[in-house]
Amino acid sequence: MKKLYRNATLIDAKAPQDLLVEEGKFTAIAPHIEADAAETIDLGGRLVVPPYVDPHLHLDYVYTARGEGATNGTGTLFEGIQRWSETKAGASSEEIKRRARQAVREEVRAGVQYIRTHADVTDPSLTALKALLELREELKDIVTIQIVSFPQEGMYAYPHGAELVEEGLRLGADCVGGIPHYELAREFGEKSVHKAVELAVKYDKLIDLHCDETDDDQSRFVELLTALVYMEGIGERTTASHTCSLGSVNNAYAFRMMANFRRAGLNFISCPTENIYLEGRQDSYPKRRGLTRVKELLAAGVNVCFAQDSIEDPWYPLGNGNMMNILDHGIHICQMMSFAEIDHALDLITTNGARTLHIEDTYGLAPGKDASFLVLDAPSPFEAIRQRAGVLRSVRRGEELFTRVPAQTRSKYDLLA
Ligand code: FE2
Repeated sequence: MKKLYRNATLIDAKAPQDLLVEEGKFTAIAPHIEADAAETIDLGGRLVVPPYVDPHLHLDYVYTARGEGATNGTGTLFEGIQRWSETKAGASSEEIKRRARQAVREEVRAGVQYIRTHADVTDPSLTALKALLELREELKDIVTIQIVSFPQEGMYAYPHGAELVEEGLRLGADCVGGIPHYELAREFGEKSVHKAVELAVKYDKLIDLHCDETDDDQSRFVELLTALVYMEGIGERTTASHTCSLGSVNNAYAFRMMANFRRAGLNFISCPTENIYLEGRQDSYPKRRGLTRVKELLAAGVNVCFAQDSIEDPWYPLGNGNMMNILDHGIHICQMMSFAEIDHALDLITTNGARTLHIEDTYGLAPGKDASFLVLDAPSPFEAIRQRAGVLRSVRRGEELFTRVPAQTRSKYDLLA
């Protein structure tokens, strides 16, 4: 069945475009398409973008912040891990799936169609991982979920952590995870980076490490990760999440590293709301922002995207899966608000995330790609960012996931109506 969406504004297109959809794919995108479509929908010049990508989320932790003993008094990353370690035991598969489903609902209703989630495998029963593997299948019509086999308490700081990561990959996780800055000594951190790369090669998986999520400028595991994946030729399949310490190192080191990141093709994920909240906790003033060098990485030609990371968990008490909110914080914190930067800011929660997830073969607004897109309540990229525009329509492989009627204001004053 052919479906024709007329009068869409696309980023960088000079004139409104029509989008023709057949069998779940785009078959044509052009200023005016003549087609005997079964259904024609006028988008009224609104902005159309590819679906939002949330490339870093902990679905097994969502809505646990208020649990007994879960309160993170210092607000640091490391106390968050401690609180989680003490409270995570005993969660059933059904409970994890119930909470994760609710978070997916929030994310998808805000325009997300792709999520990379970390599943904590530092649990001999692998309950969370198995639950999320089931959910990946259950929810595939509304969201694509990638799962990272993630040792929250360390590959070596936790008994048999490395073996549990490997078992997670055997069971069907998509990516190898790690947390080198949490291991008990730098050497163990390095060993975990070597292990992650070894496992990725052995099982032909992507890599996504929680890497240098600390203000410590001596935490430099991303250097080793970059070198190893460059030598293996798998840099584009590799992601460094957080890399907060890169915001604290000296420029001579940072610029040398950024050249290496680009050479390797490494991807970076920054979590603006999470890391401005967690980092800088032991600073007095001046107090660091805690984020990696997003603006400078992009200027160096390195791929960077933004993520939610947490929804009501021991690391972060808020979060609702609204990527426009994440983007809004990110461009402020990273000082990326030239008009050119604003006009392309949406890349940080769409195409850059897709590149990180390695899904570019089916993702994007082009003939032959999946007909998956969002209609935003704005006439241009600039207005979408300025107004923090909501999503009026989410289409996935040609099917409407939802439509939404714009809010209407009534007033006796013409100016306010
Ligand atoms: Fe995380």
